[in-house]
Amino acid sequence: MLRHNILHCLFWTKALVAMLLGLFCLLWFSWRIYDLHTRAVPAFFDGLQSVDVSAPDCTYDPTSKWARLEPQTDGIQMYGFSLDWSVETPSKIVTKLNGFRPNVFNAFMDFSANESKPAFDFSLLNWYASEAGRVKAMLEISIMMDPADKLQDFQDDRFNELAKALADCNAAYGVPIYLRYGHEMNGPFSSYGFDPIHYIPNFRSMSTILKQHTNMTAIVWAPNVGKGYPFSTSGGVPLPVPGDPNFDLMDTNKDGVIDENDDPYGPWWPGAEYVDWVGLSLYYYPPDEAYLRNHAVPDGYFDGYLTGVGYNQGANWEQNYDFYRRFALEQNKPMMLPETGSPSLYIIDPDGPGPSASNPGDSLAQTPVQLRLEWYNQIMNTSSLAKYPNLKLMVNFEEEKVLGGFYRDWRVTNDTTIITGMLSLFKGWSTHMKEGNQFDYHCNGDVVLNGQSGSF
Ligand SMILES: *[C@@H]1O[C@H](CO)[C@@H](O)[C@H](O)[C@H]1NC(C)=O
Ligand SMILES: *[C@@H]1O[C@H](CO)[C@@H](O)[C@H](O)[C@H]1NC(C)=O
Ligand SMILES: *[C@@H]1O[C@H](CO)[C@@H](O)[C@H](O)[C@H]1NC(C)=O
Ligand SMILES: *[C@@H]1O[C@H](CO)[C@@H](O)[C@H](O)[C@H]1NC(C)=O
Repeated sequence: MLRHNILHCLFWTKALVAMLLGLFCLLWFSWRIYDLHTRAVPAFFDGLQSVDVSAPDCTYDPTSKWARLEPQTDGIQMYGFSLDWSVETPSKIVTKLNGFRPNVFNAFMDFSANESKPAFDFSLLNWYASEAGRVKAMLEISIMMDPADKLQDFQDDRFNELAKALADCNAAYGVPIYLRYGHEMNGPFSSYGFDPIHYIPNFRSMSTILKQHTNMTAIVWAPNVGKGYPFSTSGGVPLPVPGDPNFDLMDTNKDGVIDENDDPYGPWWPGAEYVDWVGLSLYYYPPDEAYLRNHAVPDGYFDGYLTGVGYNQGANWEQNYDFYRRFALEQNKPMMLPETGSPSLYIIDPDGPGPSASNPGDSLAQTPVQLRLEWYNQIMNTSSLAKYPNLKLMVNFEEEKVLGGFYRDWRVTNDTTIITGMLSLFKGWSTHMKEGNQFDYHCNGDVVLNGQSGSF
């Protein structure tokens, strides 16, 4: 009996020791993994969760109140950056903004129909996606057709290749993608401009094929702002002439000329079922740049350009030029400004136009930070939010360019004064902004708040 008890005791002691040892090892391993993980990457590198984008629950419900990749909370405005990726990355922007997490980063990408060339640069696309995913932002890809190709040259195999690559990026990094496809098609700016006859079937094929591969990429239809249409002084693609079927489509009032009295958007509208988001390239263009440098953003500028009514707009333009009413409200789509901003100008050519005795410059000249804040204050404020509830995303053109005798700078993260100003604007508006890490992304296109706190 005693022997039996001793054995019994020994057995349980051994079992207990083994169990504690096992538990200890498990805890130690967990701690090691946690420790290595936190030391390996800064705190904001918390994205990059792979997902299966073709699982049965990846179906987008077309009767949903929300579009693909529309944040599923009313009253939210998102903010993002269109980067010059040769010098910037999303992680660098987050660092410069003291941990503020933008929602979206844009990159431009060429798309070729020529079968003897690759359709696009997959390794670059993959890098953009992983870099945006790393900071838990979404990616915007602005696709431009190769100038050597025509819209009708693109065959389904190219759309399949593109769709598959986007789906692969969604899957590998869990990063949602806004596909801004063939943007600014209503102008002469790119080879596919002024060609609605071929633009619409091309856009529809691409959209149809994309949905077969992923619902985590949303399609954005985004012309250039109508003011100035048909932008004939910009050079580039010539206007269609009478006899060309594009002429008949673009001469919407049938008066025999294509001019500002025609509809600058409608001829290119592919139809609601092919579009998830609508967008408009809408910038602040300082009036008469040659003499009025850094002129204050006039009151009502944003309003006027978005609706075709008010500041600097023509009489009776609301019918054609009210982009917000026509495409965001009446087509029931979320809207973005896929590239926007308010530049500061610097004269770099001493012999070029500029202030002189007879032309002393602009009494309303503003500092770079004032120019940025005046612009975004017109968009990110309670009256604009109430008036334009479908406007959900602004993407700042985070670049500088030399044009004519001028150097123009749209960036908001290149100067500590502007960074401080923008961060205080975001902070004041933070009940209407949620940062990248505050959303969870799903393979069916849902974007929902996850309860995490933001950087303010
Ligand atoms: C996306 O959703 C649609 C329904 O809206 C569905 O037909 C399609 O199969 C889905 N695509 C994927 C890849 O799950
Ligand atoms: C396709 O690309 C090849 C190689 O760059 C070029 O030689 C050829 O002319 C192109 N074809 C067309 C139809 O543009
Ligand atoms: C809000 O935006 C509207 C129009 O975009 C503008 O007219 C108004 O001045 C702005 N209000 C503030 C406080 O900035
Ligand atoms: C601003 O941009 C210039 C290049 O244009 C770069 O050399 C400089 O480091 C940038 N400064 C900051 C604060 O990002």
